Amino acid sequence: MTAQRINPSILSADFVNLEAELRAIGSADYVHVDVMDNHFVPNLTFGPPVVQRIQEVSPLPLDMHLMITDADRWAPGYAEMGAFSVTFHAEATKDPVALARRLREIGARAGIALKPGTDPDPYLELLPEFDQVLVMTVEPGFGGQGFMSDMMPKLRRFAEAKAASGVDVWLQVDGGISVDTIGIAAEAGADTFVAGSAVYGGVPEQRIAELRAAALDHRHSGA
Ligand code: DX5
Ligand code: ZN
Repeated sequence: MTAQRINPSILSADFVNLEAELRAIGSADYVHVDVMDNHFVPNLTFGPPVVQRIQEVSPLPLDMHLMITDADRWAPGYAEMGAFSVTFHAEATKDPVALARRLREIGARAGIALKPGTDPDPYLELLPEFDQVLVMTVEPGFGGQGFMSDMMPKLRRFAEAKAASGVDVWLQVDGGISVDTIGIAAEAGADTFVAGSAVYGGVPEQRIAELRAAALDHRHSGA
């Protein structure tokens, strides 16, 4: 039976009180850390020195989401810091398989993220090379946007390819996930859910419990 993982995104946390914000999500599975470089996306967050400190103080393992150009150059550094998982964008690497292999060699899980406009076809046969596929359900760059339910056919294609291959790759969704939308993504095959505004917009532990219950309620039938 598929586990339903809830990964709060600290993009919606109070950046001046990050340590307390990290402690407030202890019942979650992983902490989702969004790195943005103001080139790949029109927004800027933080880079290696801040992530290094997050890694040192976080009670939860780090689920890195790199929204940066030149992932080949920068992604391995996050794995070297000890991040549990490093997800780079398909659109930002010259060779996704080589980069994923490098990340695994360092000891991290390797994830590949697809923007809403990116065709899943070239990646369906590459599932054994990845530990996680992130199907973006908003245009990357900002928290608090609306969930794109038209990404569900893409998610279903990955779920079918996963079932056909027998590979234990995690299917993650990110963007607009709330108690109202998480079930839609779960039914389409997601097992790992990022939520920023939905978690930090209320009492985090309560929101995490509600999200988890809704995700479990709507588990994918093929799981
Ligand atoms: C957006 C980021 C997300 C963001 C999600 O580009 O990748 O992780 O924090 O925020 P919500 O859950 O508010 O849509
Ligand atoms: Zn993200």
